[in-house]
Amino acid sequence: MKAVTVTSPEQTMQLGAKLGQLVQPGDLILLDGDLGAGKTTFSKGLAKSLGIEKTIKSPTFTLVREYQEGRIPLYHMDIYRLEDGGAEDLGLDEYFDGDGVSVVEWSEFMQALLPDNYLRITLSRTTDQDETRTIKFEPNGTHYQKLVDKLEG
Ligand SMILES: Nc1ncnc2c1ncn2[C@@H]1O[C@H](COP(=O)(O)OP(=O)(O)OP(=O)(O)O)[C@@H](O)[C@H]1O
Ligand SMILES: [Mg+2]
Repeated sequence: MKAVTVTSPEQTMQLGAKLGQLVQPGDLILLDGDLGAGKTTFSKGLAKSLGIEKTIKSPTFTLVREYQEGRIPLYHMDIYRLEDGGAEDLGLDEYFDGDGVSVVEWSEFMQALLPDNYLRITLSRTTDQDETRTIKFEPNGTHYQKLVDKLEG
C-alpha cells in the first residue's frame, strides 16, 4: 500500500481502526495534512479499535491527551499550536518511549524531535469532491514497513 483513496469519513475511520488493531506499545504514528484533511477522524477510528469509548477530541489546549482504557494506552497529540516553535522544551518526545502508541497530528512542528523510525500518514484532498481523500502511508524503518504490510493484508 502506498496510497489509498477513501470517499467518506467513515472509510477514513475504518482505516484508522484497522491500524489500531495492529499497533504496539512504543509505536509512533504521524498524521499530517491540511486543516480538515481528516487527521482527527483517522485518530477516532484508531482509538475506537483500541477499545477507547471516550470521544477523541483534538487536544487544543493541552497538546496531548492520554487515554488509558484501551488495549494499550493512546497518547494523542495535536501540536498545531507549536507552529511558532517551542516543541523542544515540552518533553513531548518522552511519550515516544512510553507504554502506549503515540499519534501526532501536525508532526512537522516537532520534526527535530522525531526519532528515526515512525509511520507517517498523510491525508489530502485531491479532487473537488468533498469527501474524497487520499491517504498515503510512508513507513520509516522495517518495523513500520511490516506494519504497513499487515495493514494491506
Ligand atoms: N473522507 C474523509 N475523511 C475524513 N474526514 C472527512 C472525509 N470527508 C469529509 N470529511 C470531513 O472533514 C472533516 C475532517 O476533520 P478532522 O478534524 O478529522 O480534520 P483534521 O485533519 O484533524 O483537521 P485539523 O488540522 O483542524 O485538526 C470532518 O468534518 C469530516 O467529516
Ligand atoms: Mg485534528
